[in-house]
Amino acid sequence: MGTAPTVNYELVVRGGTIVTPERLIRADLAVADGTVCAIGTSLAHADKEIDATGRYILPGVVDAHVHFREPGMAYKEDFGTGSRAAAVGGVTTVFDMPNTVPPVATLDIFEHKLDTVAGKSHVDFGLYGMLGQDNADEIPKLAGAGAIGLKLFMGQTTGDNPCPDDGAIYRGLRAAEESGLVVGVHAENNPLLQQLAKELRAQGRTDVRAHLESRPPLVEVEAVTRIATLAGAVGTTLHIHHLSTRDGLERVKMLRALGHRLTVEALVGHLLLDDSAYDEFANLVKLNPPVRPAEHGAALWAGISSGDVDIVATDHAPHSGEEQAEPNVWCAHGGWIGVETSLPLMLTQVAQGRLTINDVVRLCAANPARIWGIDDRKGHLDVGADADFVIVDPAAPGVVTGAHLHSKHPVTPYEGWETTGSVEATYLRGELIAEHGEIVGPPRGRHLAPRDRKPTTLGGPL
Ligand code: NCD
Ligand code: ZN
Ligand code: ZN
Repeated sequence: MGTAPTVNYELVVRGGTIVTPERLIRADLAVADGTVCAIGTSLAHADKEIDATGRYILPGVVDAHVHFREPGMAYKEDFGTGSRAAAVGGVTTVFDMPNTVPPVATLDIFEHKLDTVAGKSHVDFGLYGMLGQDNADEIPKLAGAGAIGLKLFMGQTTGDNPCPDDGAIYRGLRAAEESGLVVGVHAENNPLLQQLAKELRAQGRTDVRAHLESRPPLVEVEAVTRIATLAGAVGTTLHIHHLSTRDGLERVKMLRALGHRLTVEALVGHLLLDDSAYDEFANLVKLNPPVRPAEHGAALWAGISSGDVDIVATDHAPHSGEEQAEPNVWCAHGGWIGVETSLPLMLTQVAQGRLTINDVVRLCAANPARIWGIDDRKGHLDVGADADFVIVDPAAPGVVTGAHLHSKHPVTPYEGWETTGSVEATYLRGELIAEHGEIVGPPRGRHLAPRDRKPTTLGGPL
């Protein structure tokens, strides 16, 4: 019957539109050995065929900022539940933060964490190490063990890990540079926010807006300026996690004009919520750095249009119901879930004309893969890349429904939000891992180390 195929494809996705940061390509996509092996028209027949007519084929989302809470805080989330949420949401790679228990400051702890989570993840994952007060000697070992990067907590947040002083930061930045690791920063000035919190507490304030007032833009701007100055002197590749203020973004532009190179992350939460959310949700939307008045979100959106914001991440930060319902803001825990809802929410922004589908691929897949050095395999669907892809119906209506989410405590401030654009199916290295809101198959996720130690070409002047 017909001509025998010359190539043995395992899977062909037909009739869809492949999305890159620059283009929309109407073509079929073929998979062999878990990688993309051909893109074109009239590809040979495969045993498995998928009809993607009218659908977008996106590279799987690379979420560079999640907290899956293992080991030590599995009552909030674990790698099984967190990665199920990711897979269903079209996220095929996550980078997990190091503020687990114990914090990932040494090689031993890193290896223990890897042992704990290996075999549980439905998506591929990188693990961050921590840049702490006393662990500069461990940094080359963390790099050797495959840490995806380091996180530096300059300001207090979940885990209450001590914030290193400038001497320790400088030492850690040097070790990171020598080891070729990207340093991602929680850029808030700790002594300043502690002082402001003390004054607000002394006034008897316990409401959620007191937390916002304790972390004004100055807290972020000072930390961004200081870390860019230190990292610039050392030559460390620098990434600012969850940049949240107009002032912080203006400062980043000034720093780039001075020749500093740094990449910037905006969170879905900071883009979609403003301080009016406190009236409805109170401490559920406590976040470090805080959800702010709308002008700051508008500045982040402008930064997306101008290219000053490099990536969008979720900061998926689950907590128990009691922790989030705590009425005193100083006792409530910062952050909420988001890894499962981020792509549908961003697709909705596309449908509303706020950005393009190409922007979503650039911000949520291609750029994070480049920054952390996994772009040989992840973040795009060129021939040779891992066949991590998401089939999206850009017009399908949906409603965010906590009861359908896969996190341990599926409480979301987006409850009831109407969405346009849905994740129909998620594939990891050519295997179906989620379809129509449900997980498929056993955990297949693998640990990912950065490919090379070459610094990213993103982030400013070379
Ligand atoms: C994060 C968490 O809960 O681990 N919380 C938050 O408010 N952002 C920690 C963090 O990313 O700073
Ligand atoms: Zn943080
Ligand atoms: Zn975080």
